[in-house]
Amino acid sequence: TTAVPDAVIDALQGARRVLVLSGAGMSAESGVPTFRDAQTGLWEAFDPTQLATLEAFQMDPPFVWAWYAWRMQLVGAVDPNAGHVALAALAGLREVTISTQNVDDLHERAGSSVAAHLHGSLFEPRCSECDTPYDGEVELPQEPVERLDPPTCPQCEGDVRPGVVWFGETLPEQAVEVTEAAVEALEPGDVVLVIGTSGLVYPAAGYPAMARAEGATVIEINPHESEISDMCHHVVRGPAAEVLAAIVGALR
Ligand code: APR
Repeated sequence: TTAVPDAVIDALQGARRVLVLSGAGMSAESGVPTFRDAQTGLWEAFDPTQLATLEAFQMDPPFVWAWYAWRMQLVGAVDPNAGHVALAALAGLREVTISTQNVDDLHERAGSSVAAHLHGSLFEPRCSECDTPYDGEVELPQEPVERLDPPTCPQCEGDVRPGVVWFGETLPEQAVEVTEAAVEALEPGDVVLVIGTSGLVYPAAGYPAMARAEGATVIEINPHESEISDMCHHVVRGPAAEVLAAIVGALR
């Protein structure tokens, strides 16, 4: 098991506010592959430029829609892990704000309220032409499929797209505003838990540094080194589910 430094427990013991910044590693132990991990990254099979861009979608809607429909099915078939559950319990002990890069609903299904989905949500498809949210039937593949026709928008007959932020697209304004406000509200003694992110994608990757500038104690939970490790006050090199359960379990 991963040793959690006493300084990490002490930091949380003394904190009033905890800001959680979670990435794909948060859901890894639920069985949702991350994006860039060598051995499991889903994108091992695909080149991101093939999938996560509006251009890729417009060039071949069924190819891109199939990948996201499979991910929706996958997320629906797995459960929140002990890390999600621990964070939901933490909200009963401290003032917790969660801002996630993840497009799954596992934080919510564990009982957390999520202040911001910086990269949107798998479960908010919308029309790629008129932007109308799509709340109709979504056919989910039971195994990965190469192509699947996206639903058609009932308003304008356009192709429905995943409700996620693709490379080059702007983040949801409300999610950014809520996250920046939470970072600016941090005071010395508050804690930021940066969980399971490679720190490669901005602006999400910039929030830990902003939080540190506000005087908060920044703690990374990640089995591997990331782009933000150097700016953290503490790092816990272990898996989120095990580490978060240990941390929350140790709080009085
Ligand atoms: N617990 C904690 N962290 C883990 C675990 C685990 N069990 N397993 C893997 N990790 C870490 C990896 O070491 C890596 O640093 O999770 C991180 C996953 O990194 P990415 O796959 O790059 O995920 P993320 O940082 O969320 O990607 C950011 O890029 O692909 C786009 O929009 C997509 O939101 C995503 C964004």
